[in-house]
Amino acid sequence: MSTPQQPVPQHCPTQRELDDLELLVTGAYSPLTGFNEPGSPVRLALPDELADAAEVELVDPEGLPLASVTADGSVRHLTHAQYGPFRRLYLSPGDVRETYAGATFVPVTDALTQAELDSLPSGPIVFLALVGAGTPDDLSPVGLIRATLAASSLLPDASVVAVPLPSHDDPSADHLLGTQVVAHFAAGDPIFALPSSLDSGAEGPTGPTNAHPAEIQEIVDFDRPAPDERGLVLFFTGLSGSGKSTIARALQDKLLEQGRRTVTSLDGDVVRRNLSAGLTFSKEDRETNIRRIGWVGAEISRHGGVAICSPIAPFDETRQQVRAMVDAAGGEFFLIHVATPLEECERRDRKGLYAKARAGVIPEFTGISSPYDVPEDADVRVDTTGRTIEEALDDVLDTLRKEGLLDL
Ligand code: ADX
Repeated sequence: MSTPQQPVPQHCPTQRELDDLELLVTGAYSPLTGFNEPGSPVRLALPDELADAAEVELVDPEGLPLASVTADGSVRHLTHAQYGPFRRLYLSPGDVRETYAGATFVPVTDALTQAELDSLPSGPIVFLALVGAGTPDDLSPVGLIRATLAASSLLPDASVVAVPLPSHDDPSADHLLGTQVVAHFAAGDPIFALPSSLDSGAEGPTGPTNAHPAEIQEIVDFDRPAPDERGLVLFFTGLSGSGKSTIARALQDKLLEQGRRTVTSLDGDVVRRNLSAGLTFSKEDRETNIRRIGWVGAEISRHGGVAICSPIAPFDETRQQVRAMVDAAGGEFFLIHVATPLEECERRDRKGLYAKARAGVIPEFTGISSPYDVPEDADVRVDTTGRTIEEALDDVLDTLRKEGLLDL
């Protein structure tokens, strides 16, 4: 009698892990063929509940199974990633060898300058646009590919290949890995190092020749808007009754009056009546609530809007996750700790909730029977005790102005 087969558990890795997976299965990391080999920075972190699984299927964010990985980190390839802008340019070293043998290979990590273009050798060129997750240059992966395509169109015989080489926050290991990957793509053909390529410490050329040709500059400007035009998530955190919502609302009104930005409010109490209706105040549900707010805020920032969030958001770890989501969307995350002390919030008790929490009628109440992690990474800290809303708001606006994010 056959026992019913258990489905292989699935996991959607981080973008960095997905990039690593692609380089593993295309042979670009050879001789490395799997995750978590001793001494290798190419690592896969599985959630605790999958730590003991014999096999896990790695899926893309839309659930397409890309590979299966066994407990020792070895990878069995299932499908190549299929979507995303410029997918057709993501070739394997094998494909590149077939198509571009004999060219000069030029690794690129930033938009090319006129001086760099002028320095290129003659003959066919293949730009390897290194577009992996977490690389330090400011251009987005798509922006870097667009800028490199623009550069290639200015040359008589140049092509672009996208290589998703991610950063592992280990400069020396990354340098070594990057050199190997580029060598696999070049396969013995010459490699030409631009001043800005793999050596992230190297200075680019200076002076007027450091300028980008106009068609490249236009792409850079679109991809890297000035700080005060970038999507912005203004995230207020603090105890119930601390004044978060009131300051947030005053800020929203000012932005609307000025009329230069689109604004969405994601207030804690309001979100709990719609987006997070039905959630409780357990630790797990609070985390879900904040991650939802973070996800929406990040999407708003992706489109250049301003999201004003004002939940309690008591857990540092969840706030960090929101920061990462906004970063990944290309937005600015600005954290405001409304640090009005518990005694003052409780003295005000505008909604009568503290009295109920003290009486045990409301369980798990933040500050009374549920924790609040004081942020250590706040951009501004305001205590509203004995101050008007305008004064507290001014502190926030001053810092936003100084950092060039908003001028109100
Ligand atoms: S969070 O912890 O998930 O960030 P959120 O900001 O959405 O909280 O909701 C907080 C609001 O819910 C408070 O301003 C208060 O009006 C109300 N509330 C009801 N029960 C609780 C509780 N147990 N702890 C904190 N706030 C509560």
